[in-house]
Amino acid sequence: MMIYKTNEEVEQMRQSALLVSKTLCEIAKELKPGITTLSIDKKIGTFIRDHHAIPSFLNYMGYPFNSCISVNDVVVHGFPGNNELKEGDIISVDIGVILNAWHGDHAYTFAIGDPGEEVMQLIRVTKESLYKGIEKAVAGNRIGDIAFAIQEHTEKRHGYGVVRELVGHGLGKNLHEDPQVPNYGKRGSGPKLKEGLVLAIEPMINLGKRNVYTEDDGWTVRTTDGKASVHFEHDVCVRKGKADILSDYSIIEKAEMANPNLFTNQVFQPLV
Ligand code: MF3
Ligand code: CO
Repeated sequence: MMIYKTNEEVEQMRQSALLVSKTLCEIAKELKPGITTLSIDKKIGTFIRDHHAIPSFLNYMGYPFNSCISVNDVVVHGFPGNNELKEGDIISVDIGVILNAWHGDHAYTFAIGDPGEEVMQLIRVTKESLYKGIEKAVAGNRIGDIAFAIQEHTEKRHGYGVVRELVGHGLGKNLHEDPQVPNYGKRGSGPKLKEGLVLAIEPMINLGKRNVYTEDDGWTVRTTDGKASVHFEHDVCVRKGKADILSDYSIIEKAEMANPNLFTNQVFQPLV
């Protein structure tokens, strides 16, 4: 069942999404080689609680951390741990919050130092594909239009692997609501989009093959070929003519560009 949000509810959800953006911005300021992913997770938990919210992933289906931190060949749902970040790592930080009963849930991939041209391109193209998907998140379109746009840009144009096992989702008072939002599919297929539907659109794109497996911890998803994987996620409200992006990458990008330990790509949000 799809749950459409009123304008007032969408504004509340924007606050939830923005708290995630602000948390990612704080993390972007502090990323550098030598820090552990567990120390990042602790900061995330503290920042969220200081802002009168709750980390939504913690205890969700038994998930044991505040955030998911996925390094290099980890696709998503990586456990924070005592592993230190090193020069050339890429790191996807995925954060959820519950603020005033509404969930925010989004993610950003950072490069610690230089991961090489091939991986920087994967980061750039995955982020571009997210915006190409968002351009299709308008009333009257279908889920398949978003899915097709992401797959077209990543798999068909660049030969990357599009993960099939994990998908984006509706978002609201629950972390996962209908509909599912795959990153692959046919144009004009799937549920129709109506105003007020809030979606978490989240391409998970592999440099090599699309195949993944889950580790024995029951969560950590890795690429089978051991090559890098990138994950970006935005919270988006379906509107007529143009989608409304509730989360805000601009503050994260500002912090990213100001941090000399991070490599960056310039990806501009389409003006549509
Ligand atoms: N962004 C992810 C998702 O939508 C994060 C969920 S992690 C979990 O599924 F721990 F909460 F499951
Ligand atoms: Co999500």
